[in-house]
Amino acid sequence: MSKKRVLSGIQPTHDSFHLGNYLGALKQWVDLQQSHDAFYCVVDLHALTVETDPKLLAKRTLLSAAQLIAIGVDPKLCTLFIQSHVPAHNQLAWVLECLTGFGEAGRMTQFKDKSQKGGTDRTNVGLFTYPILQAADILLYQANNVPVGEDQRQHIELTRDLGQRFNSKYKEVFTIPEAHIIKSMAKINDLQEPTAKMSKSANSMAGVIELLDTPDVTMKKFKSSVTDAGREVKFDASEKAGISNLLTIHSAFSGKSIGDLETEFAGKGYGDFKVAVADVVIAALDPIRKKTEELMGDQAELLKILNSGADKANEVASKTLADTYAALGLIANG
Ligand code: TRP
Repeated sequence: MSKKRVLSGIQPTHDSFHLGNYLGALKQWVDLQQSHDAFYCVVDLHALTVETDPKLLAKRTLLSAAQLIAIGVDPKLCTLFIQSHVPAHNQLAWVLECLTGFGEAGRMTQFKDKSQKGGTDRTNVGLFTYPILQAADILLYQANNVPVGEDQRQHIELTRDLGQRFNSKYKEVFTIPEAHIIKSMAKINDLQEPTAKMSKSANSMAGVIELLDTPDVTMKKFKSSVTDAGREVKFDASEKAGISNLLTIHSAFSGKSIGDLETEFAGKGYGDFKVAVADVVIAALDPIRKKTEELMGDQAELLKILNSGADKANEVASKTLADTYAALGLIANG
């Protein structure tokens, strides 16, 4: 039996991924490429919805691809590519836009949140059509499953609706995908604000562990993490949010159970425990940072990998686009 197909994408909006991304979505990407025919893309076109300095966008796109490879996304096992290398994404997006109701697009909660925050003057039409481009990303590859976080559920619903609408109006062109909602391996909170999820939108980066932080920086962030006035290394999410978060992080990297860690650190001070957590995290992240640097040091090689990914992606995408155009009555050229 042929493998099921998955597709997912990540925006190149930051220099470095953080621990939350890594233990959530990205580790799943690495696992899924073994059991599935996986397509993963760095969605640089989506990133245009937020104005970014062009040099920075270019750097972040390459850094994102390099980090994906560094954490174990293997271009030999999966198809890794940059979204803008496959023109069919924009082409299918237009077709789907013509099938989407204005009200339907306006009901997307992420659009509502972002446009409310920015106000109408700072809200571009790209933000409005963002989920439709995402639907095109997915439908082009006939993906069966889309591994994403809970916040993307509504976008996958829209993708399914649009796929079904096209199939019933015109022709069965699209596979209707299912959301594969990723339950993060561990819920990772901010080190400075241990009751809030670790996120790039935090007020300060002091509590956010980035994959590309140097060991010194990582150690410093753990040492200055916020804990409580007690002295027991014990899991208690409501009374000891900071220590509980550190236990969760240690456990995610060391594979030891929380219970075993409580025993191991019984009678030891918070200071020692923080250093121990930093040590296991650094041991895991240091090779990732080094591998990323190595890939960024040979951009010709990195681009070669991405170009061959784009070739594979283009092959699948252009076939779907041709079927879509034919079903719509667009005359083929030639
Ligand atoms: N909107 C997704 C996010 O912010 C990124 C994304 C774009 C995506 N296209 C996709 C995710 C296709 C899955 C499939 O996380």
